[in-house]
Amino acid sequence: MNKIVVYKPLPDETIEYLRSHAEVTIVDPKQPGALIEALKDADGAIGTGVKMNTETLESATRLKVLSTVSVGFDAFDVSYLNQRGILLTNTPDVLTESTADTAFSLVLLTARRLAELAAFVKAGKWTKKIAEDKFGVDVHHKTLGIVGLGRIGASVARRAALGFQMKVLYVDQGVNERAEREFGAKKVELDELLKTSDFVLLQAPLTKETHNLISTPQLKKMKRTAFLINASRGPIVDEPALVEALKDGTIAGAGLDVYVEEPLAVESPLLKMDNVVTLPHIGSATHETRRAMNENAAENLIGALNGTLKANMVNPEVLKR
Ligand code: DGY
Repeated sequence: MNKIVVYKPLPDETIEYLRSHAEVTIVDPKQPGALIEALKDADGAIGTGVKMNTETLESATRLKVLSTVSVGFDAFDVSYLNQRGILLTNTPDVLTESTADTAFSLVLLTARRLAELAAFVKAGKWTKKIAEDKFGVDVHHKTLGIVGLGRIGASVARRAALGFQMKVLYVDQGVNERAEREFGAKKVELDELLKTSDFVLLQAPLTKETHNLISTPQLKKMKRTAFLINASRGPIVDEPALVEALKDGTIAGAGLDVYVEEPLAVESPLLKMDNVVTLPHIGSATHETRRAMNENAAENLIGALNGTLKANMVNPEVLKR
């Protein structure tokens, strides 16, 4: 029987499913050395939120499959996994719609100042009729620029174009013909997107190329009335540069679900700014979607160990050896 390590809390039914196919060891990755020790004789592992690199995996000599309960896989050193012939699987489809909901919520939250004004009411400060100093700006018919038109980006584009009659621009390595045809999305250069969008939405994976993609020069290209929305990965934005741009009015505001360090430090200047909405990395955090991600990741792991998995492989090339 294959041996697998679970390094993230999973619901009982998912553990039961895994136990019906393999010998399961559950570890708390916060216990020093526990994960490395457990991986030593494991064939596979499932979890999220832990750096999986040479240090963690060097002594895991039997390891064949890692299954991440996420779409993003920036915590994994994929070139090291390739060298070792370890397959990595992820959960790309099941979280698309929920994550797109979160991203589009950030557009509404920032433009209409919803979080700030809800807090204002709860604080008992609503004592007279609302005036201009509390007005937001419209979302409908504005321009949304999406950096990274993959599954989630395209899903946000659909909400924007069909639901809010927004003009959609995008930057991507490929051409998304469906989004162009169905949502009128237009592929442009990053500079044009920054200069003309009312909302710049970052929806790209974190890679060497996207690390600090948005820093002072890029922020300066944005309209002073524009908002930056990041629902992908924190390090795509140079955070100190963003703080400066928000302080000096280079841009109007930001809606953030992700940060360079998570959880965001309580002393972060971002928490003190009225023109910033800060969510606690909840892109896919609904009961339904998280359940689907857990199930999907468990099935990926068992399918990969049995040699029957057909999809959700990050580095399928390792199987060709
Ligand atoms: C993902 O699936 O990558 C989400 O951001 C959760 O980490």
